[in-house]
Amino acid sequence: MAPDSPIAPWFTHDRFGMFVHWGLYALAARHEWVMNFEKTPTEEYERYAEYFDPDLYDPVSWARAAKAAGMKYVVLTTKHHEGFCLWDTALTDYKATNTPAGRDLVREFVDAVRGEGLKVGFYHSLLDWHHPDFTIDGRHPRRDDPPEEIERLNAGRDMARYRAYLHGQIRELLTDYGRIDYLFYDFSYANDHHHPVWGGKGRDDWGSDELMALTRELQPGIVVNDRLEIPGDIVTPEQYQPSEPMTVDGVEVPWEACQTINGSWGYFRDNHDHKAPELMIRMLIDGVSKNGNMLLNVGPTARGELDAVATRALAEFARWMHLHARSIHGASASAYETPVDARYTQRGDRLYLHLFSWPFEHIHLPGLAGRVAYAQLLNDASEIAFREIPPETAALTTGMGGQPAGTLTLQLPVVRPDVAIPVVELFLREGA
Ligand code: GLC
Repeated sequence: MAPDSPIAPWFTHDRFGMFVHWGLYALAARHEWVMNFEKTPTEEYERYAEYFDPDLYDPVSWARAAKAAGMKYVVLTTKHHEGFCLWDTALTDYKATNTPAGRDLVREFVDAVRGEGLKVGFYHSLLDWHHPDFTIDGRHPRRDDPPEEIERLNAGRDMARYRAYLHGQIRELLTDYGRIDYLFYDFSYANDHHHPVWGGKGRDDWGSDELMALTRELQPGIVVNDRLEIPGDIVTPEQYQPSEPMTVDGVEVPWEACQTINGSWGYFRDNHDHKAPELMIRMLIDGVSKNGNMLLNVGPTARGELDAVATRALAEFARWMHLHARSIHGASASAYETPVDARYTQRGDRLYLHLFSWPFEHIHLPGLAGRVAYAQLLNDASEIAFREIPPETAALTTGMGGQPAGTLTLQLPVVRPDVAIPVVELFLREGA
């Protein structure tokens, strides 16, 4: 069974959430790191704020799409590395209220998500490429300025003042918006050798211990991730699938893989490297089969809408989750040995066999002989017959040979059910 989060069991139960990366980079529409990649001067980048007019912003529709897809929590970028704030912070003018949007977009998001009965999460960038006290480091857009210029600039910058700003903003976000269930801090790079001279930032720069204490004091029970360079409640593999349940110092820990549709988090108009919806459904299943969650990202456009690709992907999840949610929510890894091209998840006495490829008529399940009381396809609750073929049985012209002792053989229909990933629900006998 999965380790529950010591803080919040809902997290390991819910398994599936929506990540939303939205900020000024949606206007550039070429990756949320565009300011860094293109080394855009602050004054030039700030101009996007003048044109930020998300006239189609409707977080209720985001929340509904997430809910229909079987997602149970939604995590929004309150501020990304660019430094632009989506809420009405008192600590900077670089915020949504001072754009044509003219209002607090976080407030509407929180109300919409909570209104749909979903949990509310914030992503908050520890980096800030806009703040005048944030020193230029190896990942800053100005990293390649002449060294004397960087030294001169950094001499006037003060990370202690930046820390006060960072903590002050977290205080606002965790005080003014009711219950916040999850905080995704991003990210630490103290030992980053990305730049030989200017280096990175981490725990001491963020004041991570105090920030963690503040977070927990303002929102007791909140789930906090592990990117403050100190341990958090969960670990956060990014854009890869762990090959087994994740551990820290040999102890299994709750984890959540954050995944994109096309490799970019922010809206990227010309990037068509889209994962097929079926692949993303497999990724969700694969994660749960290893005790993990999936946080699937969408990058809304600058007008505030989910693009067509995201909308289609969510609709595919909705179709699949409508029929199969019970193999995901509340499910975890199973101790049973998985047959090839399949994944197991288990919830109490129900074992879920997810068939990544559809075999011809039979699938052999090691170790399940005598342990299954009943079996059915999950999509339509149609019975699946099963039997044990004694090991000594010889294969004949029209009869299958014996299977290793302890194997249970399922009899599948020739026609694969018309769902993204078919699932067989096995009702385990008591004590199995
Ligand atoms: C990263 C990136 C980023 C993204 C995030 C999501 O570390 O900096 O742009 O927001 O991870 O996990």
